[in-house]
Amino acid sequence: MKKTESRPKDLLGLEYLTKAQIEEILNQAKPMKQLFTRSVKKVPALRGKTVALVFFEPSTRTRISFELAAKRLSADTISIAASTSSVQKGESLIDTVKNLEAMNVDYLILRHSSSGAANLISGEVKAHVVNAGDGAHEHPTQGLLDAFTIFDKKGRFDGLKVVILGDIAHSRVARSNMWALTKLGAHVVVCAPPTLIPPGLPDIFEGKVTVSNKVDEALEGADVINVLRLQLERQKENLMPSIREYTELYGLNLSRLALAKRDCIVLHPGPMNRGVEITSEVADSHQSVILNQVTNGIAVRMSVLYWLAGNPSLSHSSHVEELSRMETGQ
Ligand code: CP
Repeated sequence: MKKTESRPKDLLGLEYLTKAQIEEILNQAKPMKQLFTRSVKKVPALRGKTVALVFFEPSTRTRISFELAAKRLSADTISIAASTSSVQKGESLIDTVKNLEAMNVDYLILRHSSSGAANLISGEVKAHVVNAGDGAHEHPTQGLLDAFTIFDKKGRFDGLKVVILGDIAHSRVARSNMWALTKLGAHVVVCAPPTLIPPGLPDIFEGKVTVSNKVDEALEGADVINVLRLQLERQKENLMPSIREYTELYGLNLSRLALAKRDCIVLHPGPMNRGVEITSEVADSHQSVILNQVTNGIAVRMSVLYWLAGNPSLSHSSHVEELSRMETGQ
Protein backbone atom coordinates (compact mmCIF):
# COMPACT_ATOMS: atom_id res chain seq x y z
CA MET A 1 0.00 0.00 0.00
CA LYS A 2 1.40 3.38 -1.03
CA LYS A 3 1.62 6.12 1.56
CA THR A 4 0.30 9.43 0.24
CA GLU A 5 2.85 12.19 0.83
CA SER A 6 1.13 15.56 0.87
CA ARG A 7 -1.77 15.32 3.24
CA PRO A 8 -2.69 18.38 5.30
CA LYS A 9 -2.46 18.18 9.11
CA ASP A 10 -6.01 19.50 9.44
CA LEU A 11 -9.34 19.49 7.67
CA LEU A 12 -10.46 23.11 7.82
CA GLY A 13 -12.55 23.37 4.66
CA LEU A 14 -13.08 21.78 1.25
CA GLU A 15 -11.86 24.99 -0.37
CA TYR A 16 -8.35 23.91 0.65
CA LEU A 17 -8.49 20.32 -0.70
CA THR A 18 -7.76 19.24 -4.26
CA LYS A 19 -10.15 17.12 -6.30
CA ALA A 20 -7.79 14.14 -5.87
CA GLN A 21 -7.72 14.55 -2.08
CA ILE A 22 -11.53 14.73 -1.93
CA GLU A 23 -11.78 11.60 -4.11
CA GLU A 24 -9.28 9.78 -1.89
CA ILE A 25 -11.38 10.45 1.23
CA LEU A 26 -14.62 9.46 -0.55
CA ASN A 27 -13.12 6.25 -1.99
CA GLN A 28 -11.81 5.22 1.39
CA ALA A 29 -15.21 5.78 3.00
CA LYS A 30 -16.63 2.89 0.91
CA PRO A 31 -14.75 0.08 2.72
CA MET A 32 -15.34 1.91 6.01
CA LYS A 33 -19.09 1.70 5.33
CA GLN A 34 -18.85 -2.04 4.67
CA LEU A 35 -17.75 -2.46 8.27
CA PHE A 36 -21.24 -1.43 9.41
CA THR A 37 -22.72 -4.69 8.12
CA ARG A 38 -20.51 -6.83 10.37
CA SER A 39 -21.18 -8.00 13.90
CA VAL A 40 -17.93 -6.33 15.10
CA LYS A 41 -18.09 -2.82 13.60
CA LYS A 42 -14.61 -1.88 14.73
CA VAL A 43 -11.01 -1.83 13.44
CA PRO A 44 -7.89 -0.99 15.48
CA ALA A 45 -6.60 1.70 13.11
CA LEU A 46 -6.52 4.52 15.70
CA ARG A 47 -5.99 2.43 18.84
CA GLY A 48 -4.19 4.51 21.47
CA LYS A 49 -5.27 7.84 19.93
CA THR A 50 -7.58 10.31 21.66
CA VAL A 51 -10.22 12.35 19.85
CA ALA A 52 -11.58 15.45 21.62
CA LEU A 53 -15.04 16.61 20.57
CA VAL A 54 -15.09 20.34 21.28
CA PHE A 55 -18.62 21.52 20.50
CA PHE A 56 -19.38 25.14 21.35
CA GLU A 57 -22.67 25.11 19.38
CA PRO A 58 -25.54 22.61 19.55
CA SER A 59 -25.27 19.44 17.44
CA THR A 60 -27.03 16.10 17.21
CA ARG A 61 -25.70 14.45 14.05
CA THR A 62 -22.12 15.73 13.73
CA ARG A 63 -21.04 15.17 17.34
CA ILE A 64 -22.48 11.67 17.64
CA SER A 65 -21.24 10.78 14.16
CA PHE A 66 -17.65 11.82 14.99
CA GLU A 67 -17.84 9.97 18.30
CA LEU A 68 -19.01 6.77 16.59
CA ALA A 69 -16.43 7.21 13.82
CA ALA A 70 -13.61 7.55 16.37
CA LYS A 71 -14.88 4.56 18.40
CA ARG A 72 -15.18 2.36 15.29
CA LEU A 73 -11.50 3.12 14.64
CA SER A 74 -10.78 2.15 18.31
CA ALA A 75 -9.78 5.68 19.41
CA ASP A 76 -10.72 7.03 22.84
CA THR A 77 -13.03 10.04 22.89
CA ILE A 78 -13.61 12.93 25.25
CA SER A 79 -16.33 15.54 24.94
CA ILE A 80 -16.37 19.19 25.96
CA ALA A 81 -19.18 21.75 25.59
CA ALA A 82 -19.02 25.53 26.09
CA SER A 83 -21.71 25.40 28.78
CA THR A 84 -19.67 23.08 31.04
CA SER A 85 -16.15 24.29 30.20
CA SER A 86 -13.94 27.06 31.60
CA VAL A 87 -14.90 29.18 28.58
CA GLN A 88 -17.73 30.23 30.93
CA LYS A 89 -15.05 31.72 33.22
CA GLY A 90 -13.42 33.72 30.42
CA GLU A 91 -10.83 31.24 29.14
CA SER A 92 -9.95 31.79 25.47
CA LEU A 93 -10.49 29.18 22.75
CA ILE A 94 -6.73 28.95 22.16
CA ASP A 95 -6.00 28.36 25.86
CA THR A 96 -8.77 25.75 26.01
CA VAL A 97 -7.37 23.71 23.11
CA LYS A 98 -3.76 24.10 24.32
CA ASN A 99 -4.85 22.63 27.65
CA LEU A 100 -6.52 19.72 25.87
CA GLU A 101 -3.33 19.14 23.87
CA ALA A 102 -1.31 19.16 27.10
CA MET A 103 -3.42 16.12 28.00
CA ASN A 104 -2.11 14.39 24.84
CA VAL A 105 -5.17 14.73 22.68
CA ASP A 106 -4.44 13.71 19.06
CA TYR A 107 -7.49 15.18 17.32
CA LEU A 108 -9.54 18.30 18.03
CA ILE A 109 -12.96 18.24 16.40
CA LEU A 110 -14.24 21.80 16.72
CA ARG A 111 -17.69 23.28 16.22
CA HIS A 112 -17.86 27.01 16.83
CA SER A 113 -20.18 29.89 15.99
CA SER A 114 -17.32 32.05 14.66
CA SER A 115 -16.22 31.66 11.04
CA GLY A 116 -12.50 30.88 11.04
CA ALA A 117 -12.38 29.38 14.56
CA ALA A 118 -10.86 26.10 13.30
CA ASN A 119 -8.33 28.01 11.15
CA LEU A 120 -7.41 30.06 14.26
CA ILE A 121 -6.47 27.04 16.38
CA SER A 122 -4.88 25.11 13.50
CA GLY A 123 -1.51 26.86 13.83
CA GLU A 124 -1.56 26.77 17.64
CA VAL A 125 -1.62 22.99 18.19
CA LYS A 126 0.12 19.91 16.81
CA ALA A 127 -3.09 17.85 17.06
CA HIS A 128 -5.14 17.29 13.93
CA VAL A 129 -7.89 19.93 13.80
CA VAL A 130 -11.15 19.01 12.08
CA ASN A 131 -13.67 21.76 11.44
CA ALA A 132 -17.09 20.43 12.47
CA GLY A 133 -18.80 23.65 11.37
CA ASP A 134 -17.57 27.23 11.92
CA GLY A 135 -20.14 30.01 11.68
CA ALA A 136 -21.23 30.53 8.08
CA HIS A 137 -17.81 29.47 6.71
CA GLU A 138 -17.55 25.69 6.13
CA HIS A 139 -18.75 22.30 7.34
CA PRO A 140 -16.33 20.11 5.38
CA THR A 141 -17.40 16.67 6.64
CA GLN A 142 -21.03 17.54 5.79
CA GLY A 143 -19.90 18.51 2.28
CA LEU A 144 -18.02 15.21 1.98
CA LEU A 145 -20.90 13.07 3.24
CA ASP A 146 -23.31 14.85 0.89
CA ALA A 147 -20.95 14.16 -2.03
CA PHE A 148 -20.56 10.52 -0.91
CA THR A 149 -24.36 10.10 -0.76
CA ILE A 150 -24.82 11.66 -4.21
CA PHE A 151 -22.18 9.38 -5.74
CA ASP A 152 -23.64 6.36 -3.93
CA LYS A 153 -27.04 7.01 -5.55
CA LYS A 154 -26.03 8.47 -8.92
CA GLY A 155 -22.67 6.81 -9.62
CA ARG A 156 -21.19 10.02 -11.07
CA PHE A 157 -20.78 13.76 -10.58
CA ASP A 158 -20.11 14.82 -14.17
CA GLY A 159 -23.14 16.41 -15.77
CA LEU A 160 -25.30 16.35 -12.63
CA LYS A 161 -27.49 19.35 -11.88
CA VAL A 162 -27.44 19.86 -8.10
CA VAL A 163 -29.80 22.49 -6.71
CA ILE A 164 -29.05 23.90 -3.26
CA LEU A 165 -32.33 25.42 -2.09
CA GLY A 166 -32.52 27.60 1.02
CA ASP A 167 -30.57 30.08 3.08
CA ILE A 168 -27.32 30.12 1.11
CA ALA A 169 -25.99 33.32 2.69
CA HIS A 170 -25.74 31.92 6.22
CA SER A 171 -24.97 28.29 5.37
CA ARG A 172 -21.59 26.64 5.91
CA VAL A 173 -23.12 23.50 4.38
CA ALA A 174 -23.84 25.37 1.13
CA ARG A 175 -20.24 26.59 0.95
CA SER A 176 -18.70 23.16 1.55
CA ASN A 177 -21.13 21.61 -0.97
CA MET A 178 -20.22 24.20 -3.59
CA TRP A 179 -16.47 23.60 -3.12
CA ALA A 180 -16.76 19.82 -3.22
CA LEU A 181 -19.32 19.41 -5.98
CA THR A 182 -17.80 21.91 -8.40
CA LYS A 183 -14.35 20.31 -7.97
CA LEU A 184 -15.89 16.89 -8.59
CA GLY A 185 -17.58 17.98 -11.83
CA ALA A 186 -21.23 18.72 -10.97
CA HIS A 187 -23.04 21.92 -11.88
CA VAL A 188 -24.54 23.66 -8.85
CA VAL A 189 -27.57 25.96 -8.89
CA VAL A 190 -28.19 27.91 -5.69
CA CYS A 191 -31.77 29.08 -5.23
CA ALA A 192 -33.15 31.47 -2.61
CA PRO A 193 -34.61 34.96 -2.28
CA PRO A 194 -32.01 37.58 -3.33
CA THR A 195 -31.46 38.59 0.32
CA LEU A 196 -30.34 35.03 1.18
CA ILE A 197 -27.68 34.69 -1.54
CA PRO A 198 -24.21 36.23 -1.06
CA PRO A 199 -22.78 38.23 -3.99
CA GLY A 200 -20.11 36.96 -6.37
CA LEU A 201 -20.74 33.19 -6.34
CA PRO A 202 -20.49 32.62 -10.13
CA ASP A 203 -17.08 34.35 -10.16
CA ILE A 204 -15.77 32.59 -7.03
CA PHE A 205 -16.72 29.20 -8.49
CA GLU A 206 -15.58 30.06 -12.05
CA GLY A 207 -19.02 29.70 -13.64
CA LYS A 208 -19.71 26.28 -12.09
CA VAL A 209 -22.32 27.80 -9.74
CA THR A 210 -25.44 29.51 -11.11
CA VAL A 211 -27.68 31.76 -9.03
CA SER A 212 -31.48 31.68 -9.32
CA ASN A 213 -34.28 33.40 -7.44
CA LYS A 214 -36.97 31.47 -9.34
CA VAL A 215 -37.56 28.13 -7.70
CA ASP A 216 -39.55 26.53 -10.53
CA GLU A 217 -36.83 27.34 -13.06
CA ALA A 218 -34.08 26.17 -10.75
CA LEU A 219 -35.71 22.79 -10.02
CA GLU A 220 -36.48 21.99 -13.68
CA GLY A 221 -34.47 18.87 -14.62
CA ALA A 222 -32.58 18.67 -11.31
CA ASP A 223 -30.78 15.40 -10.46
CA VAL A 224 -30.25 16.33 -6.82
CA ILE A 225 -31.93 18.86 -4.50
CA ASN A 226 -30.15 19.72 -1.26
CA VAL A 227 -32.59 21.62 0.97
CA LEU A 228 -31.27 23.94 3.67
CA ARG A 229 -33.02 25.33 6.69
CA LEU A 230 -33.36 29.06 7.40
CA GLN A 231 -30.49 29.89 9.74
CA LEU A 232 -32.54 32.33 11.81
CA GLU A 233 -29.93 32.25 14.59
CA ARG A 234 -27.38 33.78 12.17
CA GLN A 235 -29.65 36.33 10.48
CA LYS A 236 -29.10 39.77 11.99
CA GLU A 237 -31.99 41.50 10.23
CA ASN A 238 -35.30 40.64 8.62
CA LEU A 239 -34.24 39.22 5.27
CA MET A 240 -37.73 38.08 4.21
CA PRO A 241 -41.23 39.27 5.00
CA SER A 242 -42.23 36.15 6.96
CA ILE A 243 -41.46 32.44 7.34
CA ARG A 244 -44.93 31.66 5.93
CA GLU A 245 -44.12 33.60 2.78
CA TYR A 246 -40.75 31.86 2.45
CA THR A 247 -42.50 28.47 2.65
CA GLU A 248 -45.02 29.49 0.00
CA LEU A 249 -42.38 30.82 -2.39
CA TYR A 250 -39.40 28.51 -1.78
CA GLY A 251 -40.45 25.52 0.36
CA LEU A 252 -39.94 22.11 -1.29
CA ASN A 253 -43.27 20.32 -1.67
CA LEU A 254 -44.36 17.42 -3.87
CA SER A 255 -45.56 19.61 -6.75
CA ARG A 256 -42.22 21.45 -6.88
CA LEU A 257 -40.31 18.16 -6.60
CA ALA A 258 -42.22 16.95 -9.69
CA LEU A 259 -40.40 19.61 -11.74
CA ALA A 260 -37.11 17.80 -11.16
CA LYS A 261 -36.09 14.55 -12.88
CA ARG A 262 -38.18 11.53 -11.88
CA ASP A 263 -35.15 9.94 -10.21
CA CYS A 264 -34.08 13.16 -8.46
CA ILE A 265 -32.87 12.58 -4.89
CA VAL A 266 -33.53 14.95 -1.98
CA LEU A 267 -30.90 15.71 0.66
CA HIS A 268 -31.11 17.78 3.84
CA PRO A 269 -28.22 18.15 6.29
CA GLY A 270 -30.58 18.47 9.26
CA PRO A 271 -31.91 19.66 11.55
CA MET A 272 -35.09 19.88 9.44
CA ASN A 273 -37.89 22.32 10.06
CA ARG A 274 -40.74 20.26 8.62
CA GLY A 275 -43.40 22.46 7.05
CA VAL A 276 -40.99 25.36 6.59
CA GLU A 277 -38.25 24.58 4.02
CA ILE A 278 -39.51 21.05 3.27
CA THR A 279 -42.84 19.24 3.66
CA SER A 280 -43.07 15.91 5.47
CA GLU A 281 -44.38 14.35 2.23
CA VAL A 282 -41.05 15.15 0.57
CA ALA A 283 -38.83 14.43 3.58
CA ASP A 284 -40.38 10.97 4.01
CA SER A 285 -40.73 10.16 0.29
CA HIS A 286 -38.85 7.40 -1.56
CA GLN A 287 -36.75 10.16 -3.19
CA SER A 288 -35.45 11.34 0.18
CA VAL A 289 -31.93 10.14 1.13
CA ILE A 290 -31.81 12.18 4.34
CA LEU A 291 -31.25 9.22 6.66
CA ASN A 292 -28.74 7.67 4.22
CA GLN A 293 -26.73 10.87 4.69
CA VAL A 294 -26.62 10.26 8.43
CA THR A 295 -25.36 6.67 8.04
CA ASN A 296 -22.83 7.70 5.40
CA GLY A 297 -21.57 10.47 7.68
CA ILE A 298 -19.98 7.97 10.05
CA ALA A 299 -18.07 6.24 7.24
CA VAL A 300 -16.91 9.55 5.79
CA ARG A 301 -15.73 10.79 9.20
CA MET A 302 -13.88 7.51 9.82
CA SER A 303 -12.20 8.05 6.48
CA VAL A 304 -11.25 11.63 7.40
CA LEU A 305 -9.74 10.66 10.79
CA TYR A 306 -7.81 7.77 9.22
CA TRP A 307 -6.64 9.91 6.27
CA LEU A 308 -5.40 12.83 8.37
CA ALA A 309 -3.19 10.47 10.38
CA GLY A 310 -1.28 9.78 7.15
CA ASN A 311 -2.33 6.12 6.98
CA PRO A 312 -2.01 4.24 3.70
CA SER A 313 -4.98 4.68 1.39
CA LEU A 314 -7.72 2.09 1.74
CA SER A 315 -9.89 1.72 -1.29
CA HIS A 316 -10.81 -1.97 -1.15
CA SER A 317 -12.85 -3.86 1.40
CA SER A 318 -10.02 -6.41 1.73
CA HIS A 319 -7.89 -3.77 3.44
CA VAL A 320 -10.51 -3.25 6.10
CA GLU A 321 -10.85 -7.01 6.43
CA GLU A 322 -7.11 -7.15 7.18
CA LEU A 323 -7.52 -4.51 9.87
CA SER A 324 -10.49 -6.40 11.33
CA ARG A 325 -8.56 -9.67 11.50
CA MET A 326 -5.80 -7.93 13.48
CA GLU A 327 -8.46 -6.91 16.01
CA THR A 328 -10.18 -10.26 16.38
CA GLY A 329 -7.00 -12.33 16.09
CA GLN A 330 -8.54 -14.58 13.36
N1 CP B 1 -25.84 18.57 9.81
C1 CP B 1 -25.46 18.99 11.01
O1 CP B 1 -24.43 19.65 11.16
O2 CP B 1 -26.29 18.64 12.03
P1 CP B 1 -26.02 18.93 13.57
O3 CP B 1 -26.10 20.42 13.76
O4 CP B 1 -27.06 18.18 14.32
O5 CP B 1 -24.63 18.43 13.88
